[in-house]
Amino acid sequence: MTPFPYVLADSSTRIAIIGAGRVGSTLAQQVTQKNLADVVLLDIVPELPSAIALDLTQAKGLEGHHRHIIGTNNYEDTANSDIVVITAGVPRKPGMSRDELLNINAKIVLQAARSAIAHSPKAILIVVTNPLDVMTYLAWKATKLPSERVLGMAGVLDSARFQTFISMELGVAPDNISTMVLGGHGDSMVPLTSYCTVGGVPITELLDSDTIARLIERTRNGGAEVVKLMKTGSAYFAPASSTCLMVDAILSNQSRLLTACTYLQGEYGLEDIFMGVPCRLGRNGVEQVVSLAVTDAEQQALFNSAQLIREQLEQVFQMGLDL
Ligand code: APR
Repeated sequence: MTPFPYVLADSSTRIAIIGAGRVGSTLAQQVTQKNLADVVLLDIVPELPSAIALDLTQAKGLEGHHRHIIGTNNYEDTANSDIVVITAGVPRKPGMSRDELLNINAKIVLQAARSAIAHSPKAILIVVTNPLDVMTYLAWKATKLPSERVLGMAGVLDSARFQTFISMELGVAPDNISTMVLGGHGDSMVPLTSYCTVGGVPITELLDSDTIARLIERTRNGGAEVVKLMKTGSAYFAPASSTCLMVDAILSNQSRLLTACTYLQGEYGLEDIFMGVPCRLGRNGVEQVVSLAVTDAEQQALFNSAQLIREQLEQVFQMGLDL
């Protein structure tokens, strides 16, 4: 008889998830079900994180893991986390401009990052709150962490969405498809088609340029398409899965090549900005920013994307936040 694989988990690894909303709670579920770490869920709403932690705890026996999950409103309970993930923020409501959203979430992310890192000074910080590239920059400024320990989740999600739409078009399993989407998270993302392959075959050999353009457009609107259907709230399963992949790459020290929002210091001709590029992720965070050869058009698209991020950053700096 095969022995039952009943192994008590090593409980020393811990993740703090700031914001116990849809992305945060789904991430907590994934992290514990995959047995990656214990989870501390923190939210500003009283009792909400405790309720979610209790619900997830009641599923432990069913899921067969032994990870501890606690919910709290107190940053002290997040102490000594290996990774801090920030999903706290408000979603864009009808009538709210992008600028208003930016101003509100900037204050939330700044305070959340600073409070969490005060209790977990050795942590790696992953930002998920939108607008992602700006929030990641602010979190870095607010915490003064080395830049390799601050990153944002976007490229993995954008690449996964492109992978999905190619898979649906070709009828090929998504995990047979490798995609590479750079740039800012949102309308200005930059898919690098020459690095996108199906079983190692470039997609340009399998799809005509009109079809590729249509799939890129759908990828650009991947989040908006979900919002439109959902009506209240935005996507959370794929964002949580994308974050979980990054968490796994870091905790398992995979040195895995993923697209993440990271600090650029000359790569792709850009400096002092957080934007999505391929990096190797391991136990120390961003181990290497990988510079790929890009076409002139792709380079220009990256510059345009960076310009949009800089404009938003400028707006945030004008708020006079204590950075
Ligand atoms: N401190 C802690 N938690 C906060 C704070 C704060 N100052 N402000 C808001 N929150 C919490 C909210 O109470 C809520 O539970 O953040 C949570 C956000 O959850 P949701 O509204 O469900 O949003 P979600 O779908 O999880 O998205 C979170 O991820 O993908 C991005 O664009 C998305 O920015 C958004 C973020």
